[in-house]
Amino acid sequence: MIPVYYQDEWATIYHGDCREIMPIFPDASIDLVLTDPPYGHNNNNGDLIHNWEKALGQVKRGEAEAGEARPIANDSPEETQTLVAWLFPEIARLLKPGCCCCCCCGGGGGPDPQFARWSLMLDEAIGFKHAVVWDKGGLGMGWHYRRNYEFVLVAEKPGAACNWHGDHRVANVMRFSGIKPTSTDHPTVKPLGLFQRFVGLHSAPGETVLDPLMGSGIALSAAKDLGRKSIGIELDERWCEIAARRLAERSANQPEGMLDGYRSEVAQRAGVRSIIQRKQPRFRRRKS
Ligand SMILES: C[S@@+](CC[C@H](N)C(=O)[O-])C[C@H]1O[C@@H](n2cnc3c(N)ncnc32)[C@H](O)[C@@H]1O
Repeated sequence: MIPVYYQDEWATIYHGDCREIMPIFPDASIDLVLTDPPYGHNNNNGDLIHNWEKALGQVKRGEAEAGEARPIANDSPEETQTLVAWLFPEIARLLKPGCCCCCCCGGGGGPDPQFARWSLMLDEAIGFKHAVVWDKGGLGMGWHYRRNYEFVLVAEKPGAACNWHGDHRVANVMRFSGIKPTSTDHPTVKPLGLFQRFVGLHSAPGETVLDPLMGSGIALSAAKDLGRKSIGIELDERWCEIAARRLAERSANQPEGMLDGYRSEVAQRAGVRSIIQRKQPRFRRRKS
């Protein structure tokens, strides 16, 4: 029996390796997997994020030495590849037919075309549906082409109509400002609004969302905000602690106006409307 780290009416967190915990869940028991694997870049281990924190002296008070790296588990290129090769078929087993896996993936930069490899792997294990672009705005890190977008790869398990709760006007580019993590954040934390948007599009209230690589629990927070049940698994206890605190502090079913993902959807639709309006032919008044 795997001990539960945190539980409330909506969310359950397991502290441990997803490869040991996911096999306990029954086949076709999950309505949406929303997850964010390690980038495979050794993030926050002497990289730009780490140097940034070092330069700003950002450390948890009383805990770490200034500039101490906070490496992410399974974040070397080989470890990440081994992890996702195990994970995608296991996600296929757990998803109900017609349900989706939304998987964050870095942007288009090399040298390794990870987005292409993961797309093919998701296609083989589950069934590729779409590559959504998360536009982070501004200019990100990188050399020559700077990184200001990332992909969210969407795979759909065949066998039933897609578990889709948007309409036909959902753009495949979504803009949510990227987050510059502080020393108390997960080094690769994702915006809450982005995750609310995927939860809202791919699950109905009361359904179950799984994030097997939970980090600081943004997927679970988004699910709770929207009245979905959720399960998170995380290897590193410090992220379990942050996720549990976040969940304990929030109440379920936020009114729509409080949701970042909802606000963004309204803004995008307003943008579409104004383009359509601008394209209407203009008639000059005839001089009488
Ligand atoms: C990119 S981060 C997720 C960040 C998260 N989306 C957030 O916003 O906080 C990936 C996470 O997967 C965790 N992880 C890596 N290997 C794991 C494994 N085998 N089982 C469970 N968690 C794992 C890492 O500790 C890391 O926190």
